[in-house]
Amino acid sequence: MEKLVIEGGKPLSGTIRIHGAKNAALPILAASVLAKGTHVIHNVPDLLDIQVMLHILRALGCTAEHRGETVTVNTTSLFSSHIPEELMTQMRSSIFLMGPLLARCGSAHIYQPGGCAIGERRINLHLLGLEALGAKFEESGNMLACRAEKLTGADIYLDFPSVGATENIMMAAVKAEGSTTIHNAAREPEIQDLQHFLCAMGARIYGAGTDTITIEGVAELAPCTYRIIPDRIVTGTFMVAAAATRGNVTLERVCPAHLTSVIHVLRRAGVQVVVDGDVIHVSCHGRPKPVERVVTSPHPAFPTDLQAQVMVLLSLADGFSIMKETVFEGRFKHVDELVRMGADIRVDLSSAFIRGVPRLYGATVEATDLRAGAALVIAGLAARGTTVVEQIHHIDRGYDRIETMLARLGAKVERHAFNGARAVTL
Ligand code: EPZ
Repeated sequence: MEKLVIEGGKPLSGTIRIHGAKNAALPILAASVLAKGTHVIHNVPDLLDIQVMLHILRALGCTAEHRGETVTVNTTSLFSSHIPEELMTQMRSSIFLMGPLLARCGSAHIYQPGGCAIGERRINLHLLGLEALGAKFEESGNMLACRAEKLTGADIYLDFPSVGATENIMMAAVKAEGSTTIHNAAREPEIQDLQHFLCAMGARIYGAGTDTITIEGVAELAPCTYRIIPDRIVTGTFMVAAAATRGNVTLERVCPAHLTSVIHVLRRAGVQVVVDGDVIHVSCHGRPKPVERVVTSPHPAFPTDLQAQVMVLLSLADGFSIMKETVFEGRFKHVDELVRMGADIRVDLSSAFIRGVPRLYGATVEATDLRAGAALVIAGLAARGTTVVEQIHHIDRGYDRIETMLARLGAKVERHAFNGARAVTL
């Protein structure tokens, strides 16, 4: 089992480059099966979730190679639409293959997806959208068999602007007969990236980034070369780490326009944020200020994926803040661990009441999901003393060697493997 050992109290300083977006790369890799041939996709980060997606593509009969930041996928020899259960349960994003497989093969066999323990994470909106396009479903045990003799364009309204459901419907509709409109669609930048990728394959899609997306079905699509957008959540994570350690950090190869709501909240907390093209400079001198109320909501509002990280910053503020989580019902699992480090936070239903303290103290804590784990790393960097973060495989799902990136900013962070009693530094 690997752990991160963090010596806190050192302000971060220096410059790092931000890697490509996990939540853009995953649906785009799934969409590659929509066309026979070889895709070349650049700026793909080396993450556990990406590795799982490539294993799934290989299990379906594709070839997939990840060299540096470039993935080459050849989908010509795809022969199966049956996703292996052991891969499906490792990652929720495997559900993104439903739409493309229905469009390519007319069938998809999936299992109840896994993912973060941040809530129920239903898939009803995915199924309702695909059903509207002509898909039929049959459950046997925990397997769901989906079939579609033909996919026909439809008018679809999403009860909630689900990111995954929007993406699945887009990928099924691109080769459907006729036109599809998705109302109350998710507006995240990753949806726009998927639209750009599909259009590079010859699809006809308009409106990604707004709440109404129109897709005109086409008969065939062709493989393409594409570059993934920067990861806005990794960017935001490092911005908060710079602020929480009272450091001075420059982040390169980022897209500030994807972080408007986050920059707004950080500035309200007294953090200096300077935007310069695809570079963001972040610094913070002294304790952050409290922010009366931060509410997570679908894009362009404040992102749920940065809720835990910003909570760490507010737990060090000189006053009282409230954080309200409206997207996932189970996304406060980091609070207990922060309280063990000296934070003063009380949770009531979907709100966390945060009374800032002058400092946190190092402790041994456990990551419960991807972003909670990242938040505990930030807390360890800001705390006095040593922090050991366990279950760091959660963090590796979304951050490419986080300890290496932090070390480049002067942090004292080591990855240790514990085989029973003995620790080995990796
Ligand atoms: C995507 O998850 C992201 N994952 C999540 O990032 C992100 O937190 C989330 O969007 C919201 O922005 C990827 O893109 C791989 P949703 P997704 O469908 O698609 C409910 C991270 O840390 N819902 O928008 O699963 C659901 O229960 C991860 O990188 C239904 O009820 O999110 C949740 O409460 C975590 N029925 C809400 O909608 C459905 O069919 C948001 O889910 C689908 C969703």
